[in-house]
Amino acid sequence: MRSFLAIFCLFVCLSWTEANEVSQDFQVVKGANKTYFIYPQKTLFLEGFFVCEDSGLDLLTIDSEEENKEVTSEVASTGYKTFWTSGVNLNEKGNDWVWLNLLDQSNPTPITYFHWKQGQPTPVTPASSCILFTKDDLEGTWSNVNCKEEHIPICQSYISPI
Ligand SMILES: *[C@@H]1O[C@H](CO)[C@@H](O)[C@H](O)[C@H]1NC(C)=O
Repeated sequence: MRSFLAIFCLFVCLSWTEANEVSQDFQVVKGANKTYFIYPQKTLFLEGFFVCEDSGLDLLTIDSEEENKEVTSEVASTGYKTFWTSGVNLNEKGNDWVWLNLLDQSNPTPITYFHWKQGQPTPVTPASSCILFTKDDLEGTWSNVNCKEEHIPICQSYISPI
């Protein structure tokens, strides 16, 4: 019995420590309706997606002007400049932008609010189909870039209204 408990604890305690370490990696910022988890390391788009999913979070979505402003001011203090959102294009013609917020929605969500930087989006190719959020001096703007670039992933979870 005792050795069973020891082995059980070995697994549970180890995985608990691991999970705990993962969450400690993030810089956590509370917004009005969401909690943002800023991962302090640049990753490829897909790596960022999985960094979030592995912690039970979605990569960032930005659904309104209010939220774009919130992300702009919240991330301003992190010292980074460019961040992965979960926005991608599913169509080479470039007219099928979706959020990959799969934990929340289970299907990609069509993007209805955009905040492109001037001159963006550039024509979509397989090499430029991921939406990057850039913190400029006054505002946060979007551009479509190569998914193999490395940027800081922001994960999110919704704060449930009580
Ligand atoms: C939070 O949710 C409220 C109610 O839906 C909305 O009016 C407000 O704009 C949201 N705030 C942000 C920063 O998204």
